[in-house]
Amino acid sequence: MGDLVARYREVFGPIGAVRIVRGPGRVNLIGEHTDYNGGLVMPMALEASVRLALYAHQEPVVRLWSEQFAERAEFALGGEARLEPPDEPPHWLKYPMKVAEVLAEEGLTLYGLSAVVEGDVPVGSGLSSSAAYEVASALAFLVAARPELPAGPAAAAAAAHGLTTARLAELCQAAEHRVGVRCGIMDQFISLHGRRGCAIVLDCRDLSYEAAPLPVDRARVVVIDSGVRRKLTAGAYNERRSQCEDGVGRLRKFDPDVRQLRDVSPALFAAHQHALPQAVRRRCRHVISEIQRVRDSAEALRAGDLERFGRLLSDSHASLRDDYEVSGQELDLLVEIARRVPGVLGSRLTGAGFGGCTVTLARPEAVEPLRQAVLDKYPKETGLQPRIWICDAADGAAVEV
Ligand code: GLA
Repeated sequence: MGDLVARYREVFGPIGAVRIVRGPGRVNLIGEHTDYNGGLVMPMALEASVRLALYAHQEPVVRLWSEQFAERAEFALGGEARLEPPDEPPHWLKYPMKVAEVLAEEGLTLYGLSAVVEGDVPVGSGLSSSAAYEVASALAFLVAARPELPAGPAAAAAAAHGLTTARLAELCQAAEHRVGVRCGIMDQFISLHGRRGCAIVLDCRDLSYEAAPLPVDRARVVVIDSGVRRKLTAGAYNERRSQCEDGVGRLRKFDPDVRQLRDVSPALFAAHQHALPQAVRRRCRHVISEIQRVRDSAEALRAGDLERFGRLLSDSHASLRDDYEVSGQELDLLVEIARRVPGVLGSRLTGAGFGGCTVTLARPEAVEPLRQAVLDKYPKETGLQPRIWICDAADGAAVEV
């Protein structure tokens, strides 16, 4: 952190008190593609985060330096990106621009700032680097407008502007929509509401949630990056979402109370699934069964039944692979390798899919054999180098300095 302040001074010069804000990435344990269907999810926040070291100034301009892209770019508040060639803003600039736009529309007064952006959430890996970046950017604007705000959790910074963290999550979600992905609320919500040592069970319809403590002495969460990055993620993601909406439209004919797939009971689905085109039917079957798996997982975790929780993770993968069709050879292979290791309780792809990471629940003594098995087999079969993290659940976003 000290380093990031020093980096700020190197890039922008030695002026006043530099603040640091942090938005964490996340791993979703279970409940995939359920959030935009009004369903349940069970994510946890990660230590891996996006951080901004910032200093507010009088000019209505946001000047950013990205450590990751080694690039400088800026935009005028209330205006278009102001750039010397190239005139199309770099993709990474769009996130804070869209965040600024939605915050201004919410009625907040925005101040100019300069900031160094750094992050250790791998981009495009299904660990929500974009939500982490949106949340950190939003906090930067909140702090720039209230320099007297002390360091502390995001809730205090939001409250100083008359906002709740749930509303802030919605605003960051709206920013992501404007960048082009019609995402649900999960990623931005967990980035703001993470709790050390816990996953949360979030009801994406009313945004009520409860903490689900993770027994780290009995099971560890292992995230493995397949190294696969698919380009067309936004298109395929938005297409899945439209197919779910199509299913809702057709099922509503049988029950007018159906507003989202959340409202479709397994019995209603069983009775009328044949009225759905085949692809839509499979998408709906995944979502409806996945919402139930989150309920069952929460119950299993409460009861300390980690075997059952692990089986539900593996069932979720099969459903994402066969019905939602968002897996791929490499993710399937990682899941298979993991599941053959004694002491592994369950494994699945995590996040939107189409590449990215798997999440595996493993007994503590199975973590090292799991790592060995993956390092032995995965590169040989794919030519790709996996990255492996043993993850602890971290606190949500904060003003750190
Ligand atoms: C992405 C989206 C989330 C969620 C997941 C799939 O991470 O941003 O809103 O839909 O995919 O569960």
